[in-house]
Amino acid sequence: MVEYNKLPKFELGFFPTPVHKLDRLSNQLGVNLYLKRDDLTGPNLFGGNKIRKLEYLVGDALKQGADTLITFGATQSNHAMETAVAARKAGLDVILYLETITPNKAGDDRANILVDKILGAKIHYVSMADRTEAQADAFAMEEAKQEAAELAKTGHKAYIIPVGGATPIGSTGFALGFKELIDQLPDVAVDYIVQGSGTGGTAAGLIAGAKAFSRPDHPTEILSINVSPKPEEHYQKVVNIANDALDLLGLEQNVSLADTHFDQSYFGDGYEIPSESGSAAIQLLARTEGILTDPVYTGKAFAGLLDYVKTGKIKPGSNVVFWHTGGVSALFAEDKIVGKLY
Ligand SMILES: Cc1ncc(COP(=O)(O)O)c(C=O)c1O
Repeated sequence: MVEYNKLPKFELGFFPTPVHKLDRLSNQLGVNLYLKRDDLTGPNLFGGNKIRKLEYLVGDALKQGADTLITFGATQSNHAMETAVAARKAGLDVILYLETITPNKAGDDRANILVDKILGAKIHYVSMADRTEAQADAFAMEEAKQEAAELAKTGHKAYIIPVGGATPIGSTGFALGFKELIDQLPDVAVDYIVQGSGTGGTAAGLIAGAKAFSRPDHPTEILSINVSPKPEEHYQKVVNIANDALDLLGLEQNVSLADTHFDQSYFGDGYEIPSESGSAAIQLLARTEGILTDPVYTGKAFAGLLDYVKTGKIKPGSNVVFWHTGGVSALFAEDKIVGKLY
């Protein structure tokens, strides 16, 4: 067997994650709908898509001799929480810069911020009161670099993971995740993978993987549903990450913007703000299949999938995989994030 990824890897999760057909919903929608269960990546109940990236990011951190991971996200960030889990499993310290998009109430920590605290992460809140998201990102990165420099003075080495783990190293995990899926479904010509997209690192890996590992007679399209607005240049960044990931894997293929399919129609009023169609999608999946999704990412992404089927953008009889990227702990977050689900 060819070993594609020779990058250092620190095993965190349980792979391959399961993939299974949703029979009742498939019948209802008129497509063959499969679910790729990256909500079950492990290593605990609150897995998710970041574990695939973190196996290689932590591998790199350990290779560089780091004893601390620093990363960024919202107060209820799945990525920050999964990074804290990964750090602890690898015996590392962890520092989180958390943007207060939805501030947590003092003394009433819930969901991921509660888990971060149980894990003993050092937390810096980054106020969004008088900053745009881009300004907050830049501020947090500057602070993190300074903190890393301070740590270096006392003999520590911090490894800084950009928001979402959206780097070529992280995305190699998802390029191989695509191959994992195709190998699991030898008798299914997968037409579409639908996934919720934030920083774009997952999309980059899947797009790279689809280019390299699709069935030769049947390229798979990656349909990425944005969970927040993105400027035009974001998509070129995703393409660059995908190409750098292909390089790291020693693969010769290249991707371009034509290989991407992002859709900004389904995040409603914005990140962490529940949408009507997202809430309806959560209910439908729960009440038809007993599967739970979340209001910030997977619910909105699944609403996009439903709309593509309803409007014929995904044709009847298509083979569709919904990549369940996790995030279900958000069902236990602040009411403002959860919205109205029943
Ligand atoms: C549950 C969930 N789904 C999807 C995503 C989007 O992944 P990416 O940031 O790689 O686009 C995230 C990122 O935080 C997530 O937590």
